[in-house]
Amino acid sequence: MNVCIVGTGYVGLTTAAVLAELGHQVYCVDQNHDKIEQLNRGYIPIYEPNLKEIIEKNRDRLTFTNGLDLGIKHASTVIICVGTPSLTDGRTDLTYIQSAIDHLALHIDSYKTIIIKSTVPPGTTEQLYIQLLEKGVPNHLFSIVANPEFLREGSAIFDMLHADKIVIGLRPDDQRSLPIMKSLYAGISCPYVITSLTGAEMIKYASNAFLATKISFINEMARICDAVGANIHDVAKGIGYDPRIGPHFLQAGLGYGGSCFPKDVKSLEQVAHSQKITPHLLQAVQLINDSQVDLYIQKLQQAVNHLSDQTIAVLGIAFKPNTDDTRHSPAEHLIRKLSEAGCIVRAYDPKAKLDSSHQPNVTQTDTLQEAVEGADILIIATDWQEFQQLNWREIKARMNGPIVLDARNCLRRQDIEQWGLQYIGVGCG
Ligand code: UGA
Repeated sequence: MNVCIVGTGYVGLTTAAVLAELGHQVYCVDQNHDKIEQLNRGYIPIYEPNLKEIIEKNRDRLTFTNGLDLGIKHASTVIICVGTPSLTDGRTDLTYIQSAIDHLALHIDSYKTIIIKSTVPPGTTEQLYIQLLEKGVPNHLFSIVANPEFLREGSAIFDMLHADKIVIGLRPDDQRSLPIMKSLYAGISCPYVITSLTGAEMIKYASNAFLATKISFINEMARICDAVGANIHDVAKGIGYDPRIGPHFLQAGLGYGGSCFPKDVKSLEQVAHSQKITPHLLQAVQLINDSQVDLYIQKLQQAVNHLSDQTIAVLGIAFKPNTDDTRHSPAEHLIRKLSEAGCIVRAYDPKAKLDSSHQPNVTQTDTLQEAVEGADILIIATDWQEFQQLNWREIKARMNGPIVLDARNCLRRQDIEQWGLQYIGVGCG
């Protein structure tokens, strides 16, 4: 098939790479000239494992262009992957997607299947359908489909090729799109969930809200474990064997970040309010998450006399491992709070870059060793694999003080303590 993808963020690029791998001819359109120029030079603007390799492998099936007209001319299937960021009040900013639809309307002169992959509040895809009609595109020239993505940054290629389901939301009168969607994803073996447009939009929101709820749940359990002297690892393991609960997303720590969970949970809360529903659970999930960084700061304050005198090595800047993304990163939030508390902070991350402007006494080091050298306290803020395999004997020799704060509960206490270091986690018994 000839496919046009609008928006080359991590969802758009991953989708393009995988569809090219599946044999489709893919036109990737983005308004950003620099990005398209970089992609044409072979430079991938984000770090995503295997993305570069798959793009290189399928280069002859991929076209990167600023011209939507070119993409639309060749493709009968258009996938919208533009950003849907948060407005200040938590509602979703639909400006980019509405503008993409306006542009699309100018170029449609033969039948197109328009697939909305951007995450949008329930009701949006139907509004976009009406927008296309109002822009003069006749009903018989297009169908619109809600087809959310469930890709995790850091394993997006794997997640798309090994999807656990494909969700397809259709308008009630749409007889044409389902076979087209099945051809598009032929080669990906998984169940299909066929539903209405709002059904598909809600599945995406409910999925992220549930995962965020699991994280806040385990973080609350960790606080209680701390108070009663139980170990949260044992609790997570114990409850995780129950198939109704499952073992995943029960890692206590600094809380969730990234470009999806914070935005989507807030947006769903706003959707509920707009329908006169009070979303008590979603509010509690966010309240817990928003106080996780403070909880760890309190732990440090209890462990040292004056936090402001401390030199602190923070390992991890990205919102999670295997990505250079720092959007809503709890690690970055922690660094800011430590800087405000007067600490000297030396941060290190294998991929992510810290914006340390306006943060007094904060620097990013090129190596982990530089960050650790002479530090009073070491904090694991992102659970990169390499931080879980450190030589603690060497770390102890480099550090000035003894404290290791495991803010991702990803280390083994005995590995730290055997070298005379002091381990602090949350809910560690
Ligand atoms: C999330 C969802 O997992 C994807 O299914 C979804 O497609 C994506 O959002 C999206 O809406 O586009 P992502 O934001 O890449 O993916 O990250 P996750 O792996 O879900 O992690 C989110 C945050 O939760 C990270 O800060 C991570 O450190 C934290 N987390 C995760 C925990 O604190 N504990 C856990 O047990 C798991």
